[in-house]
Amino acid sequence: MRRFVIDTDTASDDAVALVMALKAPDVEVDAITVVAGNVPLERCVQAALYTVELCGKTTPVYVGLDKPMIQPLITAEAVHGNDGLGDIGLDLTGRTPANGRAVDVLVETICSSPGEVTLVTLGPLTNVGAALLREPALAKAVRHCYVMGGTGHLPGNVTPTAEFNIYVDPEAARIVFESGMPLTMIGWDASMAFAFINPKVEAEIRAINTPLANFVCDIQRHLSEFMVRLSGKAGFDLPDPLAMAVALDPGIAETEDYYVEVITGEGPARGQTVLDVWRRHGRQPNASVVRNIDPKDFQSMLKDAVR
Ligand code: RIB
Ligand code: CA
Repeated sequence: MRRFVIDTDTASDDAVALVMALKAPDVEVDAITVVAGNVPLERCVQAALYTVELCGKTTPVYVGLDKPMIQPLITAEAVHGNDGLGDIGLDLTGRTPANGRAVDVLVETICSSPGEVTLVTLGPLTNVGAALLREPALAKAVRHCYVMGGTGHLPGNVTPTAEFNIYVDPEAARIVFESGMPLTMIGWDASMAFAFINPKVEAEIRAINTPLANFVCDIQRHLSEFMVRLSGKAGFDLPDPLAMAVALDPGIAETEDYYVEVITGEGPARGQTVLDVWRRHGRQPNASVVRNIDPKDFQSMLKDAVR
């Protein structure tokens, strides 16, 4: 069994990624750590707890940090709904997270089993950045870190240059990318290119007609409406599930190793992930960046998870 820890700002795409990991037969999810992002922290916690229960699991969910390191929290209710799961009327109240702080759990779980635990990050990197500040050895102890974040090729989805997870907390993201941890970056450009679910594919998923198959589609309602407004395209993209698919089966992705710089400070490039494609800086690569995935491979992993 492979051991995963998942850090998430649980909303409509994160929840699908959680389902994929929780239902994977060869993966043990040791812990889910929650960070503020798509919606305020408590709603992310409740959405994560709901998803774990729906999967019939008892995986512990830990409360993390409720705001970024420097700037005020930016949320995305316009994209995911106020409750994060599409505002479709789910009962997302009253569930209880595990005792313990997410940052402590990240450090203790990973550092107590060097080389064994894979970390998948689906939200802003506030918890992981804080964990690295607390214990820099985490970078060497983690087996591999798969980051949904950034955009190898512009545009961003929050500003013309920045993707949401990085833009919410660029300072934390810079700590993670500069930490030396083995890291694979699955950017929003990859999500739009390889994980866009059009109405035909959505119908194929719904035809599976299990509670999970309907859940993973139903909670995308708000995202679908946002996507039409943003791009005019019918359907929705699934960035976090694509990152989870790469973590579950790295062989589905073609990657290139680049030095990736996270831009902090003020200005129009804040939160941009700049890929040094031609190695102009002469710096050692710090990330394997996903460049190509067959959408059919992703779609079949997603369908298998909800059967
Ligand atoms: O930009 C997409 C990312 O931001 C996804 O992880 C989504 O859930 C939001 O966190
Ligand atoms: Ca997310």
